[in-house]
Amino acid sequence: MPISLKEFFEENPDIEIVIYAGKGGLGKTTFSAATAYWMAKNGKKVLCFSTDPQASLSDIFERDLFGKGEQEIIENLFVVEIDADKEIREYQEEIRRKIKEMYRMEEIPPEIDEYIKSAAAEPAMHECATYDAMAELVASGRYDLYVFDMPPFGHGVRMISMAQILDAWIDKIDETRRKAAEYTQMVQALKGSTIAESEDAILNELSEIRRKLDTFRDILIDPHRTAFFMVLIPEKMAILDTKRALEMFNKLGIKLSGILVNQVYPPELLDRPDVGEFLRNRIQMQQQYMKIIWDEFGDYIRAVCPMFDREPKGLDMIAKVAEHIFEKPWMGRERFEELVR
Ligand SMILES: Nc1ncnc2c1ncn2[C@@H]1O[C@H](COP(=O)(O)OP(=O)(O)O)[C@@H](O)[C@H]1O
Ligand SMILES: [Mg+2]
Repeated sequence: MPISLKEFFEENPDIEIVIYAGKGGLGKTTFSAATAYWMAKNGKKVLCFSTDPQASLSDIFERDLFGKGEQEIIENLFVVEIDADKEIREYQEEIRRKIKEMYRMEEIPPEIDEYIKSAAAEPAMHECATYDAMAELVASGRYDLYVFDMPPFGHGVRMISMAQILDAWIDKIDETRRKAAEYTQMVQALKGSTIAESEDAILNELSEIRRKLDTFRDILIDPHRTAFFMVLIPEKMAILDTKRALEMFNKLGIKLSGILVNQVYPPELLDRPDVGEFLRNRIQMQQQYMKIIWDEFGDYIRAVCPMFDREPKGLDMIAKVAEHIFEKPWMGRERFEELVR
């Protein structure tokens, strides 16, 4: 038997960040909420963080959380749903304010403002703002555990290469800064004064941002501090996808902490006379895929979670999911052995 989810956390007490990766619709948000809930119930101060514009945590916690900052759900369990567009707007405003302050400008000259706007229009900006918000939260050190519920972009693994995108973005800011400096120098030269001092302040600020992001990346690639889990369902496409993701993890030099199999029909249902042929066939099919899953990913499996008869929403259902993945991780295992023998 591989180690269970609970054993994983017992063996890795220094985990600060949990990230569920995988395609959409498999159960990332559900397991993020359940993990955050279970950890909070076990005495950790937890922040569950989402950047999904679908407002997925609001949905599962049944509270309007979007863009409202950190909200306490139960003791020790906090949830935040970031509005990335708002973050970007605030960030732009901040840059404008700083440039005005540092170069003692009344108004941002139009050519500088163009620079600020074009930086914000970069497609990667949304992800950058998200990454920056995450780095900021982790750097604050106000929580014992951060659970990041990722939108389904590139398996969530892209988080790591994000550091490079951010570097490019910082360069863009730096460019803006230089443009502003040139402009001001021109003006100041006419007036006969200098701006060396404010130049330093901006450079310091940029290296401060870089330091924060580097620290965050170091935590993300440390398997003792960050756990990456993948969610898988017993279907062919999902299995192929997980194989590819595993290769991607290997290439990036990141250790996958485990795989959770979700939406598995309890094979015990086969014993019930009222279960019709349709469901029987589905259960049989799933169990064939479970065999492949155990063969291919055996040591990575941390839990198997049943398909529920309704969508797991609300605290009672989150508690139930948590109980399954932490306390009864091997649902259907014995029966499976019997079925596929
Ligand atoms: N074990 C389960 N049983 C029944 N429904 C589930 C289960 N896990 C997830 N769901 C439902 O499936 C949908 C997708 O799950 P979600 O956690 O939002 O996935 P993701 O975040 O990966 O897109 C949601 O409607 C969720 O309520
Ligand atoms: Mg989701």
